[in-house]
Amino acid sequence: MDIQILNVTELRQHLDELIELLQDAVNAGASVGFYPPPLSMDEARAYWEGIIDSVDNGPRRVIAALVDGRLVGSVQLTPETRRNQLHRADVQKLMVHREHRNQGIGQALIQRLDEEANALGLKLLVLDVVLGAPAERLYQRQGYVQGGMIPQYAISADGVLETTVYYYKLL
Ligand SMILES: CC(C)(COP(=O)(O)OP(=O)(O)OC[C@H]1O[C@@H](n2cnc3c(N)ncnc32)[C@H](O)[C@@H]1OP(=O)(O)O)[C@@H](O)C(=O)NCCC(=O)NCCS
Repeated sequence: MDIQILNVTELRQHLDELIELLQDAVNAGASVGFYPPPLSMDEARAYWEGIIDSVDNGPRRVIAALVDGRLVGSVQLTPETRRNQLHRADVQKLMVHREHRNQGIGQALIQRLDEEANALGLKLLVLDVVLGAPAERLYQRQGYVQGGMIPQYAISADGVLETTVYYYKLL
């Protein structure tokens, strides 16, 4: 397994795998911003093309997990651009393909993200996650602290309004 920050050219090379990764997560019921499942290839492609544009034009980093050269997981570090919050970033869209879960890839992605945030001199990371999701345990193990929760925040794949938990990490 190889964990890398991908540049725009590399992201375009792995676009099909990024699309498959997002479809796999949404279609398995993950709450990553798309509803309802199944997620079409066109919508997944449009999402990633927007992300690649924002990597090209801003501070966003896409960190990827590659197994035998194939992209099987990713997470995004999105530094704030508002001038009074340049010290912080959002952690977004942590996903590992179902065929590669429970092998430590999610943890490795978050560890690499934390390293990059430190290298950039960031002081605060913020994320939100569905209460009780497997990702919540992962974030807790990596030292993220619960900031609070908001009920009825987003619709789950099966149509229920779910609670979201905000986490932060001071660097
Ligand atoms: C959350 C997610 C990224 C975790 O990815 P992952 O690669 O499975 O994460 P890890 O392997 O690091 O950890 C998952 C579990 O496997 C365990 N594990 C890690 N390495 C292991 C190994 N070698 N053998 C057995 N178990 C292992 C971990 O201890 C952890 O256990 P837990 O369920 O008790 O917490 C993945 O479940 C996912 O993509 N979910 C859908 C998207 C989503 O909800 N993202 C969160 C958005 S905020």
